[in-house]
Amino acid sequence: MLDVSVVGLEVSDIPDWERLERSCFAQPWSAAQLESGLTQGSLAGLGAKRDGVLLGYLAYYLICESLEILNIAVAPTERGQGIGAQLLAAVLAQASAHGATRAVLEVSAGNQAALALYSRFGFVEVGRRPRYYPESGADAILMERGV
Ligand SMILES: CC(C)(COP(=O)(O)OP(=O)(O)OC[C@H]1O[C@@H](n2cnc3c(N)ncnc32)[C@H](O)[C@@H]1OP(=O)(O)O)[C@@H](O)C(=O)NCCC(=O)NCCS
Repeated sequence: MLDVSVVGLEVSDIPDWERLERSCFAQPWSAAQLESGLTQGSLAGLGAKRDGVLLGYLAYYLICESLEILNIAVAPTERGQGIGAQLLAAVLAQASAHGATRAVLEVSAGNQAALALYSRFGFVEVGRRPRYYPESGADAILMERGV
């Protein structure tokens, strides 16, 4: 497992965050979306950094007893080294400390790596939105676990 520091992301991280986002997704969040999410409180971010370089992030929304995992991504060259698992473990620990009792997320049925990661952490399927993703036609799988 690669040793990284997991830290809260701030507005000053947005240029690196946006670069990482663009390297991971065909339809990335823009810097403006990240900034309005952070400043308006509709998302928070955890970053995995090594020597100050952002290698992965997890975006989430924590409200009352519920943790919503909005997105997770690790730089393509850094995958398979436990960074995604460290981010997920960190957000679950943080949510637990804030009194959350359940964690929810949505993932494409075609995303084997993410599905395997979430299953390994005990998330189970609780629902589906058929053909939710227009680009691929894949279902969205709704997953949940206790915190
Ligand atoms: C999903 C993602 C974040 C995983 O990050 P990662 O750092 O590579 O994951 P880890 O190395 O921490 O792996 C943890 C577990 O996830 C599962 N996993 C991760 N990548 C996998 C793959 N390619 N195939 C199968 N299982 C995989 C395994 O269970 C793994 O545990 P193991 O190493 O003990 O077998 C990464 O693949 C990614 O950034 N994908 C593109 C963005 C994306 O699709 N995000 C999800 C949006 S919902």
